[in-house]
Amino acid sequence: MKRILTGLKPTGDLTLGNYIGAIRQMVKMQDEYDSFLFVADLHALTIPQDVKELNARIRKFIAMYIACGIDPNKNTIYIQSENEFIPAMSYLLECTTYYGEASRMIQFKEKSKQNANFSIGLLTYPVLMAADILYCDCDYVPVGIDQKQHVELARNIAERFNNRYGEIFKLPEPLLSQTGTKIYDLKNPTKKMSKSEENPVGVISLFDDLDNIRNKIMKATTDSLNKVHFDFENQPGISNLLNIASELTGKTIETIEEQFKDKGYGEFKKYVADVTIEHISKIQKRYEEIINSKELDSILNTGIERSRKLAQEKYELMKEKMGVTRKILN
Ligand code: TYM
Repeated sequence: MKRILTGLKPTGDLTLGNYIGAIRQMVKMQDEYDSFLFVADLHALTIPQDVKELNARIRKFIAMYIACGIDPNKNTIYIQSENEFIPAMSYLLECTTYYGEASRMIQFKEKSKQNANFSIGLLTYPVLMAADILYCDCDYVPVGIDQKQHVELARNIAERFNNRYGEIFKLPEPLLSQTGTKIYDLKNPTKKMSKSEENPVGVISLFDDLDNIRNKIMKATTDSLNKVHFDFENQPGISNLLNIASELTGKTIETIEEQFKDKGYGEFKKYVADVTIEHISKIQKRYEEIINSKELDSILNTGIERSRKLAQEKYELMKEKMGVTRKILN
C-alpha cells in the first residue's frame, strides 16, 4: 500500500485554506493509502507564540482533523514533538543541506523580512519538514501550493543523501488539490488565506460562527466587471470564490461559471456561502462531540508508537550510513 503524509502547523485556528489544501485531500485518499497526519507543533516555534494558546491548539487540531472526516482507524495520527527522532534526523539532514538552498525558500525570504530578529529555526524549518516527510518513506505529500517548494527541497536533500551515503530514502512527491491553487484572503484576494492573519475579516476559520462565515463571504472583495468568470489577473476575488465553490462541490469551474452565466455577484456569493456553511456546520457538530472525548489520547498513543518506531529505524540507519555509530563498519 502506498503511503501519504501531511502535517499542519498550530499557529492559528485551522482555516478553509488548510481544509481544502491539505485535510480534505487526506480524507479523500485515506481509504486507499496508508495515511500519516500530524500536528507540526515544533514548526510553530519558529515564530514567537503565546504558550497557552499554542498548547490548547494542539489538541484542537487533532479533534478538528477527526471532525473533518479523518478516520483514526485509517490514519496514523500524532503530535510531531512526541517523536524525538524527527528533530534528531533533522540535524543529520541539515548537514546535507546547503545554506544557499535553505535561504532561497520563498517562505524564509518573506518571513525573515517581517522581523529582523528572526530565529535560526526559521531558516532550518524546511529541513525539519524534510525529516517529517522522509522518515516514513511516504510516496505522496498532499499540500497546498505554498508548501510545494518545501516538499521539493525534501526530495533534493533525500537525493543528495542517497548519492552521498547510500540509498535509504524514498523520493516523495507533492500532491495538490483539485484546482491546485491557494485559497486567498476574501478581503485581499491576492494574499494567501492564512491562519496567522491578524485581521481575520477575509479569513474563514473552521471555528467561525456560521452567520459570521456568511457575512465574510457576502462582503468578499469582487470587481466591477459583473461576470462570474475565472480570470485571476483581472478578477482575483471572483476567481477565488470560484475555486472555493469548485473544491467544496466537486463541480468544475466551467460548470459553476455556466450556472451563474446570467446572474449577479450577490446570488453567486450566496451560493458560495451556502456550500461553505453546509461543510463547516457538519464539521463543527462533530468537533463538539470529539473535543472532550477520552478517545483522543488513545488515538495519539497508538499513532506516536508507530511513528516513533519508524523514525527510530530510519535515524539509526542514517547514523550508520554517516559513520556516527559505535559499531565498527566494514
Ligand atoms: P501550514 O500549517 O501553513 O498549512 C497547512 C496546510 O494547509 C495548506 N494551506 C493552504 N492551502 C490552500 N490555500 C491556503 N490559503 C492555504 N493555507 C495553508 C498548506 O499548503 C499546508 O499543506 N510546513 C507546513 C507544515 C508541515 C508539513 C510537514 C506539511 C510541517 N511538516 C510535512 C507536509 C509535510 C506548514 O507550515 O503548513
